[in-house]
Amino acid sequence: RTLRIGLIPGDGIGREVIPAGRRILESLPASLNLKFSFVDLEAGYETFQKTGTALPDKTVDILKNECDGALFGAVSSPSTKVAGYSSPIVALRKKLDLYANVRPVKTTAGNSNGKPIDLVIVRENTEDLYVKEERTIDTPNGKVAEAIKRISEHASFRISKIAGEIALSRQNIRDAAGTSTRNQPMVTITHKSNVLSQTDGLFRETARRALAAEKFSSVFVEEQIVDSMVYKLFRQPEFYDVIVAPNLYGDILSDGAAALVGSLGLVPSANVGDGFAIGEPCHGSAPDIEGKGISNPIATIRSVALMLEFLGEMNAAAKIYAAVDGNLDAAQFLTPDMGGKATTQQVLEDVLKRL
Ligand code: NAI
Ligand code: MG
Repeated sequence: RTLRIGLIPGDGIGREVIPAGRRILESLPASLNLKFSFVDLEAGYETFQKTGTALPDKTVDILKNECDGALFGAVSSPSTKVAGYSSPIVALRKKLDLYANVRPVKTTAGNSNGKPIDLVIVRENTEDLYVKEERTIDTPNGKVAEAIKRISEHASFRISKIAGEIALSRQNIRDAAGTSTRNQPMVTITHKSNVLSQTDGLFRETARRALAAEKFSSVFVEEQIVDSMVYKLFRQPEFYDVIVAPNLYGDILSDGAAALVGSLGLVPSANVGDGFAIGEPCHGSAPDIEGKGISNPIATIRSVALMLEFLGEMNAAAKIYAAVDGNLDAAQFLTPDMGGKATTQQVLEDVLKRL
């Protein structure tokens, strides 16, 4: 099988880590019978300054018509509002209907402080308060601002279904790697339906219904009110497997969860739709370390694996995760954000060797 992958480095260290991601794909063991072709695509603030748009139509067209998946580095956003500029990744999620934002957070054996964390947050990516329907009303007592929180059955169903599928696929990967510490996969539904009985109530009910499908019969389904979810996530992160949440709660939980494992340079994500996935490290363009050759490539390498999972290549993904874990556990080649002295290139070579 040959997969065509769009490469969108974007700005700053995106240009240092995306080539590392490409090398990983090119170096997968031949036994996997997996080949790749690549197409370089433009997006980002520099593209905006050059061409007047941060996301050229050509980039979207090629992704839609030619590619199986993509890797996105990072983009710089101007600190003051610039007319005509808007974030290309937000636009891409809309244009390609990438309705799920998936963020795994994991420690390795050598780096767990006795609490091995291996969880993933599956965030709905299209609605909730992020429909941005706000208004401000003048009243005799001063201004009142309000925003629409929109929850649909359609979006709640598909995000919960993909959460269930991720739970099954993670169990398969754990089983294949022989590292299973769980008897069965688990999905935790996060909501606040005790207060918002209609909106979050609909999310909760729909998630329950989606996860009651026969194919998810091996999945243990539980739920948490979002505030107690935060408490438990920080007290007992090792308990969780897959957490599914509406957009706003998912946004907050996923940044919070990333803090559980130290460096931003370790945390991957994927933007996922039906039949398409974009792997994206969680960090930004890191102007403070740009050009020094010391950006941590691990978030990107893990994003490569995550993208492959959604393209159905579980074995390839498992091999990459194992190589990364090996690098982290050996702690011989770590970038400065991890307390080491290695360069991007040295970390990449070490992971490649293990692969
Ligand atoms: P940032 O994630 O770029 O950097 C935060 C800190 O983490 C910096 O000290 C940086 O050196 C470090 N860091 C990040 N990734 C690293 C890596 N791979 N290896 C080693 N150290 C790493 O966030 P910041 O500084 O708030 O934003 C910088 C620019 O990035 C801004 O223009 C911002 O808008 C943009 N940004 C873009 C994102 C995206 O494209 N998805 C996400 C977050 C920020
Ligand atoms: Mg966020």
